[in-house]
Amino acid sequence: MSVIARFLYYLRSVLVVLALASGGLYGVIVSIICTLIGKQHLAQWITARCFYHVMKLVLGLEVTVIGEENLAKKPYIMVANHQSTLDIFMLGRIFPPGCTVTAKKSLKYVPFLGWFMALSGTYFLDRTKRQEAIDTLNKGLENVKKNKRALWVFPEGTRSYTSELTMAPFKKGAFHLAQQGKIPIVPVVVSNTSTLMSPKYGVLNRGRMIVKILKPISTENLTKDKIGEFAEQVRDQMVTTLKEIGYSPAINDTTLPPQAIEYAALQHDRKVNKSKNEHATSVGISNDVSTNHEESSIKKMN
Ligand SMILES: *[C@@H]1O[C@H](CO)[C@@H](O)[C@H](O)[C@H]1NC(C)=O
Ligand SMILES: *[C@@H]1O[C@H](CO)[C@@H](O)[C@H](O)[C@H]1NC(C)=O
Ligand SMILES: *[C@@H]1O[C@H](CO)[C@@H](O)[C@H](O)[C@H]1NC(C)=O
Ligand SMILES: *[C@@H]1O[C@H](CO)[C@@H](O)[C@H](O)[C@H]1NC(C)=O
Repeated sequence: MSVIARFLYYLRSVLVVLALASGGLYGVIVSIICTLIGKQHLAQWITARCFYHVMKLVLGLEVTVIGEENLAKKPYIMVANHQSTLDIFMLGRIFPPGCTVTAKKSLKYVPFLGWFMALSGTYFLDRTKRQEAIDTLNKGLENVKKNKRALWVFPEGTRSYTSELTMAPFKKGAFHLAQQGKIPIVPVVVSNTSTLMSPKYGVLNRGRMIVKILKPISTENLTKDKIGEFAEQVRDQMVTTLKEIGYSPAINDTTLPPQAIEYAALQHDRKVNKSKNEHATSVGISNDVSTNHEESSIKKMN
């Protein structure tokens, strides 16, 4: 890593922490006001949108959303792949009004961010206390159904921080809830963000996350004994979509993980071969290594 790249990496790391802390503090204030006027269910949405605009400015990040119309009809349970802290940024962009997140209990005590989550009605789950977690989720389910709200779940449980195009096995809580309440599942797939953030490789780049929201999947006729199978099908569909959208296009001014560089080179080859076949013309050497997403490219800046 060059000196400038290293400097950018540390500078941006500090900025992320500051943005998270101030976003959390803002969220605490919003949650208190919303609760006082009886609109607690909107606190996470209001905070999310503001946070998105701050992060966009501070970190030079963008989000491209495909299939946003699939969020129009509540209630539903959203399931998304979970990779890094940057998921909060993507949440900031697409989080629908009246949606609530579920999170692991330990997050509750993180200054500002955790306090905000607690004050805005997050469903905290303690994996070691099964019955308590089930009761919390049932309460959430009732609320979602009765008031036509939404619930956000990361079924992988923990952040995967992975660099291959795949996901950790799914925990089945979200799918049990959906079956019980006959509420559709809306899968949300986020492009691999290791090109934007990866502590392992010292990556903290500007760039764009691609979020694809898939069509709601009905659980109307799903029976209890088929939940495992159903969860697997949803996961397969999400992994296929992840392979299709690939890595988040980045402006490479810190570093890139090696797998992402390999992937970009492969896509570049494919593109060159394709245009060779189609037009039978030679293609000039370009510095841009494009991902499979049309206008996006991983640019070499330094
Ligand atoms: C994203 O890419 C990184 C590095 O190339 C890989 O380790 C990780 O498994 C990938 N994550 C996902 C969700 O595809
Ligand atoms: C569920 O089953 C009913 C009755 O067989 C059928 O009419 C309906 O279309 C099914 N719903 C879905 C989403 O498959
Ligand atoms: C991105 O940066 C790293 C080192 O910082 C370099 O090894 C890599 O080749 C660059 N990738 C591209 C696509 O320019
Ligand atoms: C592109 O074509 C070259 C030979 O012209 C070949 O070596 C390479 O493997 C091809 N790449 C892909 C991704 O098909």
